[in-house]
Amino acid sequence: MSIKSDKIWMDGRLIDFEDAKVHVLTHTLHYGYGVFEGIRAYKREDGESHIFRLSEHIRRLFESAHILGIEIPYSRGDLIEACELTLKANNYTQGYLRPIAFLGSEAMGLGALNNQVHVAIPSWQWGAYLGDEGLTQGIRAKVSSFNRMHVNVNMVKGKICGQYVNSVIAKREAMNAGYDEAIMLDTNGYVSECTGENIFMVRNQKIVTPPYGSGILGGITRESLLQIAHDLGVAVEERMITRDELYVADEIFLCGTAAEVTPVREVDDRRIGNGRPGEISSMISRTFFDVVKGTSPAHPEWRHPYTV
Ligand SMILES: Cc1ncc(COP(=O)(O)O)c(C=O)c1O
Repeated sequence: MSIKSDKIWMDGRLIDFEDAKVHVLTHTLHYGYGVFEGIRAYKREDGESHIFRLSEHIRRLFESAHILGIEIPYSRGDLIEACELTLKANNYTQGYLRPIAFLGSEAMGLGALNNQVHVAIPSWQWGAYLGDEGLTQGIRAKVSSFNRMHVNVNMVKGKICGQYVNSVIAKREAMNAGYDEAIMLDTNGYVSECTGENIFMVRNQKIVTPPYGSGILGGITRESLLQIAHDLGVAVEERMITRDELYVADEIFLCGTAAEVTPVREVDDRRIGNGRPGEISSMISRTFFDVVKGTSPAHPEWRHPYTV
């Protein structure tokens, strides 16, 4: 699937795709000191196009920047409007938005404090991140030989560009070994999350997921699924999980903006449950997709409607 679009919003205006360029001395290109978001827009069966939890994503973008001490030279409202403008300019009734705030090329060195803060919002059409078959049949995951970053090595609640080297290393290792995704343990050996997704397991009809206060990214999809579980009356426990608990889980699923809700059918070559998406995973997934793509009237506050 192509990542090319007609227009990209950059530093306050819409420009042609080919013109959205940066200098090789862009500070963030060298050191990763920048922040980004991933946001999906959906077209529902009832005809409505909406951006899913746009204000929460923009809030997290500003929080990530705050964590790094980066001053974004726009308001949240400006960037909410810019996301909408980007989709409209590309005639996208659905798609993926990737707002990024990064430091310019005025000075190099780790201590460069006064570089201009740029903001860009590219967008493209992105299908099922872990494949259509993964979404319906489940994926094969492997516990990574790399750990999720310790909370005092990086600031894990921020969606910070450079931190994704950790994720890419683990993802490549898993893919090279023939798996779809890597499960990251924290530095104490407890299950943390995946390279770009939060993780849930189901055991005895209860959903279990690592707590927000552990080293995970505070996923917006994670939070939505916890609400959906609550709405459906499914018990949820947020607590630490050991690696072998995953092996004997009844069901496992991952979630994230890109991966949406993806079942896991195998971990470290051990079949999970009966090797097919489980009952509770399927119920959560169905409810999620009915909200974002279907006709469910639930949680209108999660949808930011727009017209192209
Ligand atoms: C490391 C990591 N964990 C979890 C998630 C899921 O977060 P969200 O549901 O907000 O997309 C992402 C994706 O942004 C991620 O990169």
